[in-house]
Amino acid sequence: MNSLDELLTYTKYQITENMNQYIPSYDRIHEAMHYAMKAGGKKIRPALLYAILDIYGSDKNSAHIAALSLEMIHTYSLVHDDLPAMDDDDLRRGKNTVHIEFDEATAILAGDGLLNHAVTLLTSMNYDSEIVLDVIRVISEAASIEGMILGQSKDIQDEVDTIESLNQLHALKTGRLLSAPVEVGVILSDAKQDLEQWRTIAYNIGLMFQIKDDYLDVYGKEEEIGKRVGSDASLNKTTYITLIGQEETNLLLQSKYDETVNLLKELNHLDTSLIEQIMKYVIERKK
Ligand code: IPE
Ligand code: IPE
Ligand code: MG
Ligand code: MG
Ligand code: MG
Repeated sequence: MNSLDELLTYTKYQITENMNQYIPSYDRIHEAMHYAMKAGGKKIRPALLYAILDIYGSDKNSAHIAALSLEMIHTYSLVHDDLPAMDDDDLRRGKNTVHIEFDEATAILAGDGLLNHAVTLLTSMNYDSEIVLDVIRVISEAASIEGMILGQSKDIQDEVDTIESLNQLHALKTGRLLSAPVEVGVILSDAKQDLEQWRTIAYNIGLMFQIKDDYLDVYGKEEEIGKRVGSDASLNKTTYITLIGQEETNLLLQSKYDETVNLLKELNHLDTSLIEQIMKYVIERKK
């Protein structure tokens, strides 16, 4: 793959195709799951997986289930994040959130269904059983009570008041599910010798991603981000914007980007330009 555009187009196509193949559609619960997945979204997590596979010249066709499962687990986290008991949002990916379009009980079940079905699908991946187990472990831990769920729990406890605690929160609630595709790509490429370096790079990408998310919550346009602007402020969330302001946040994003480009250079046996393009997209995106 030569460009980010090509990668994102490929990823969107694969997720749509495979979702239709692997998620049933004979009941209302399935309809709600399809609705959440079809609503759009950047598909950055599966794109990261495909990018790593591309960099190592690994087979992408056997990885479709892993890519789909990552997007399903991310989508479940959004469906639950939007519930009245959590962020209470009515707009997601430019459409009604699932509890508005259907009802609250259906949104809870659709989230549960996306998570559960993602793991079921992972068990049917076409790799050696040791590799399958490794992939399930990485993805489950990323979404876990020591990963994304722990981050979401810290987010609602309202105890964040320093950059350090905010970084920790971002790393958990967003970073872990963005690092997982990188790690899965490395595992499927049999390239564990590079894993530590990729982990640091992925950590930084996760951090930049959530800093930009907080930025767009204040300075984004509703019609572009497909979410309500000002959701964080209405919930009194501490963000980079509330802690250091707009200008410093932009400077920080740029310096994290520069730092991470230098880390990529250390992997000089690989052509990592696709990851560099993803990083640029992460800090410059308007949605
Ligand atoms: C939004 O994620 C929630 C965060 C973890 C920051 P995305 O910005 O990736 O949402 P979609 O998938 O593109 O809708
Ligand atoms: C949520 O963070 C991250 C998740 C684990 C879903 P946010 O609450 O900031 O995500 P958005 O802004 O609603 O997408
Ligand atoms: Mg939230
Ligand atoms: Mg939210
Ligand atoms: Mg947000």
